[in-house]
Amino acid sequence: MLKVGLVGWRGMVGSVLMDRMRAENDFANIEPVFFSTSQVGIAGPDVGKDTPLLQDARDLKALQAMDVIITCQGGDYTTEVYQPLRDAGWNGYWIDAASTLRMKDDAVLILDPVNRKVLDDALANGVKTFVGGNCTVSLMLIALGGLFEQDLIEWVSPMTYQAASGAGAQNMKELIQQMGAINAKVADQVNDPASAILEVDRMVAETMRADDFPKQHFGAALAGSLIPWIDKAMDSGQSKEEWKAQVETNKILGRSDRQIPIDGICVRIGAMRCHSQALTIKLKKDLPVGEIEQILATHNDWVKVVPNDRELSIAELSPAKVTGTLSVPIGRIRKLNMGPEYISAFTVGDQLLWGAAEPLRRMLNILQG
Ligand code: HSE
Repeated sequence: MLKVGLVGWRGMVGSVLMDRMRAENDFANIEPVFFSTSQVGIAGPDVGKDTPLLQDARDLKALQAMDVIITCQGGDYTTEVYQPLRDAGWNGYWIDAASTLRMKDDAVLILDPVNRKVLDDALANGVKTFVGGNCTVSLMLIALGGLFEQDLIEWVSPMTYQAASGAGAQNMKELIQQMGAINAKVADQVNDPASAILEVDRMVAETMRADDFPKQHFGAALAGSLIPWIDKAMDSGQSKEEWKAQVETNKILGRSDRQIPIDGICVRIGAMRCHSQALTIKLKKDLPVGEIEQILATHNDWVKVVPNDRELSIAELSPAKVTGTLSVPIGRIRKLNMGPEYISAFTVGDQLLWGAAEPLRRMLNILQG
């Protein structure tokens, strides 16, 4: 049995990972050792079997005893610990949710329903560092896997509608606080059938612009509004989130040397934990919509093609419906006026599941053969 060190299992992504590992009985097949950056020496979480007391996540000696380390602790931890651990001669498997190591040449991005062959080749070549991709990229690839696999895509422009969870747990709370602050200000008027909507609207705008509106984490109103920039600025004019779309997609697909252009605008909206994306795709050839749907639907077990129908689109392509599930619906697939090779699509996926935790636990299972 592999000795597997888990770091950052109490945070948001880590907790989702723990839930999934419990649900799939993953702990039965490994020897789990839980690490902590703050609470060493106390009992670990209940995973249905005995585990050692919590070990110090900065203790290189303790980490070196592991065959595999899975970390959801975040980029600062990876920066602090990864290289010293490798320099100390540790040659185990490092599976990481953070972006720190993603673009390193000796790291491979994990999304096995899409790049199992890349992963198998990497393992055969002795690669030991595996990193989860950006959530938006992973969710787009689960949805569009069939078209990428058959090399039918000339380019994609994803326009995203990203959930608060991508910014962190505190941001999710702040979104709810913002909703609450708005509601509290106008609840009486909203419930009064005789009130004038433009007056209610004026009060809402005033509330959102007020200095005491809760916006410490987002820096702006998200509830009742949106934020058209995610992450740092790049010299290209892209946000870092936008830059990741092309470089990470091509790296996941193992084609960084022949890149498919992927570029769009990433926008934060007031969803809780599902990222949505409106995709404009130029195909390499004119394919009937039915055939496109078939190629997409048969690619993996989680993508679900939703017919381009009003009621079904409203019911199925919904963050409220998809949240907390591994299902990745894609719909609104139709030919665009630009020409027969141009199609639209809209997809939704849980940012914490396929977008973060799920690829990590699946990589662990791949290591076990
Ligand atoms: N960067 C993403 C976001 C989440 O801010 O939504 C992490 O992949």
